[in-house]
Amino acid sequence: MAAITSAVRLRHSLSARLADARKRSDELFAIVRSESMYDRPIAERHRIIFYVGHLEAFDWNLLAERAFGLRPFQRTFDQLFSFGIDPVGGGLPTDAPSDWPSREEITKYVQGVRESLDHAIEEALSKPDEGHPQLKTMLEVAIEHRLMHAETLAYMLHRLPTEKKTGEAIVRTRAKAHTKTELIEIPAGRATLGLAMKNGNEFGWDNEMEGHEVEVPAFSIEKCNVTNRDFLRFMQAGGYENRALWDDASWKWKESENVEHPAFWRRDGNLWMYRGMFSEVRLPLDWPVYVSHAEATAYTNWLGRKLPTEAQFHRAAYGSPESSGTERFYPWGDEAPGEQHGNFDFQAWEPLPVGTHPAGASAFGVQDLVGNGWEWTRTEFAPFSGFKAMSFYPGYSANFFDGKHYVMKGGSPRTAACMLRPSFRNWFQPHYPYVYATFRCVEN
Ligand SMILES: [Fe+2]
Repeated sequence: MAAITSAVRLRHSLSARLADARKRSDELFAIVRSESMYDRPIAERHRIIFYVGHLEAFDWNLLAERAFGLRPFQRTFDQLFSFGIDPVGGGLPTDAPSDWPSREEITKYVQGVRESLDHAIEEALSKPDEGHPQLKTMLEVAIEHRLMHAETLAYMLHRLPTEKKTGEAIVRTRAKAHTKTELIEIPAGRATLGLAMKNGNEFGWDNEMEGHEVEVPAFSIEKCNVTNRDFLRFMQAGGYENRALWDDASWKWKESENVEHPAFWRRDGNLWMYRGMFSEVRLPLDWPVYVSHAEATAYTNWLGRKLPTEAQFHRAAYGSPESSGTERFYPWGDEAPGEQHGNFDFQAWEPLPVGTHPAGASAFGVQDLVGNGWEWTRTEFAPFSGFKAMSFYPGYSANFFDGKHYVMKGGSPRTAACMLRPSFRNWFQPHYPYVYATFRCVEN
């Protein structure tokens, strides 16, 4: 009886989560006006239409044959929509809108994939002991892959001119930050990185394994994220023109791309405007600044500080001052993420002023570590000891262990709650300016 009950629960939970993730991605595509679906808002990325097919092709290529023995019904689409692009080096894509199938053909493909997979998933999960031994993990991969795209697609659609989108042009711009930033001292202690398999069967990506503990020496960290106001001071002090603040590659990028301010800002005469998802507003000075890793690093150099390491982030977020060394699951404790704890899980399209969620502070009183913007670290994305690539998705992490990507922690307003687990690691290259990523400084 217990086995049947847990099979039902498993089926319900995974199927419901997949359906919810699909709802998220469908909603996102629905904000694009139909005549703009073949646009390419970011030069290095695919046209929007690619991603409509990609989310389904990914699920199909992952599950259909491997888990269920299903035969392809649209093999050309399975291949066409298979791969995205990471914008490191190389040339820009040159395809034309006419190179892609019609929206109707793609919609038909999407429906066909969903119907076939849903039927097979329902069947398989009713007898979880008989199917593919990694089915549950593969379904988690499909769900999180889609939710990650729901976030990175938001970065992309953020670059699409507002007249090409439909959506509420309301931006919650509260005038004032709720708190003043200061440096908080974090005493030396241990931090657990990666997925500590305490409960046995929690899902984590390959780069989260193996979980391990590290000793973190004492350091100080800013209570709040660097705000647009703070960053404006850096700009007014000539930060973008000061060669000494930038490493060679970042200076070259900045010069060749004419980067003179954060990508989310636009100068309008004497004013700075913020490019929101659906409208422009006067730059909200108390919001965390969203910048590339290179710009964040130049700012920290200006102050003689640094970005935190991945381990320092963990210590500040999940550690506690008590000598017992007990770590929390979330900065605020072990309670499941809720609106009172931070700005995440698709609550908003934009950030909120720093310090808006004191209930989400860590044991040390550090604010907004999870939500309101990913946090850049100075740790290069690299495997943990014991890393083993997933056999059914070998390139997920391993393709990016190239010394050209940095770890981001925390989460943004568009990060799904399931990816707020402490072991989740995000990464981007340092010169990609469109991510909902902010930072804070450390001294040590
Ligand atoms: Fe993908």
